[in-house]
Amino acid sequence: MERKKVTIHDLQAKKERGEPFTMVTAYDYPTAVIVDKAGIDVILVGDSLAMVVLGLPNTVSVTMEEMLHHCRAVARGAQHPLLVGDMPFMSYQTGVTDAVRNAGRFLKEGGMDVVKLEGGVKMAPMARAIVDAGIPVMGHIGLTPQTISALGGFKVQGKDAAAAQQVIDDAMALQDAGCFAIVLEAIPDRVAKLITERLSIPTIGIGAGPHCDGQVLVTHDMVGLFDRFVPKFVKRYINVHDQMVEALRQFKAEVENHTFPGPEHCFTIKDDVLERLY
Ligand code: KIV
Repeated sequence: MERKKVTIHDLQAKKERGEPFTMVTAYDYPTAVIVDKAGIDVILVGDSLAMVVLGLPNTVSVTMEEMLHHCRAVARGAQHPLLVGDMPFMSYQTGVTDAVRNAGRFLKEGGMDVVKLEGGVKMAPMARAIVDAGIPVMGHIGLTPQTISALGGFKVQGKDAAAAQQVIDDAMALQDAGCFAIVLEAIPDRVAKLITERLSIPTIGIGAGPHCDGQVLVTHDMVGLFDRFVPKFVKRYINVHDQMVEALRQFKAEVENHTFPGPEHCFTIKDDVLERLY
């Protein structure tokens, strides 16, 4: 059956049918091709690339130009998934004009379909302005890594009544601002369930339990390409890091013991041509 490009309306329809959907990150062409081939619904070019690709300590310093560079590579590799560009820190917090201008760049220069931004009640005006400019917005609340200093570290959010109420209020504010979906990161599963039931738009969980409408993971975490730490909510499906180390060790050994390259890796030349050389 011919596959169609996933739209925000498809995700809404899946929520209404109670059919879970999937989102993962990609930051380059080959990963985008693989993710597309696996039939994943949504690709997020996440600012997590700061940590898992650029080796930075957090996501705060990644720039618009760096994000757009990776978005373009992903857009070349993925034909079917909905493409989400993650707005980096300070590309929208400074006001609605910056927010709309930078969101537009993700579509015009990055080849993305929609954008994502972090923050709830306080960021709702920026989300509203971007939506009013005709660009669909995915929200992101709970643990918001761009404000990690204010949150005091990578910690579970919404654990006491006041904090849980704040996450609920954030979700409602983003829905009212016109967001088409909301990522819920690192919150108790029963708070995520309550939000998912209360919202008419889809929720996408990461460390938010099984009741969300969709699930998202950072690809480098789930395939074992990022070795600095593994969050509790990550399931590692494969360990590509170890497999690559093993492959490279084997290459080194084969070069050193003269078994690579073999005849099958060589280009030949006819004897009579070779004889004419001096
Ligand atoms: O940047 C990212 O990868 C994200 C996910 C954790 C949702 O925001």
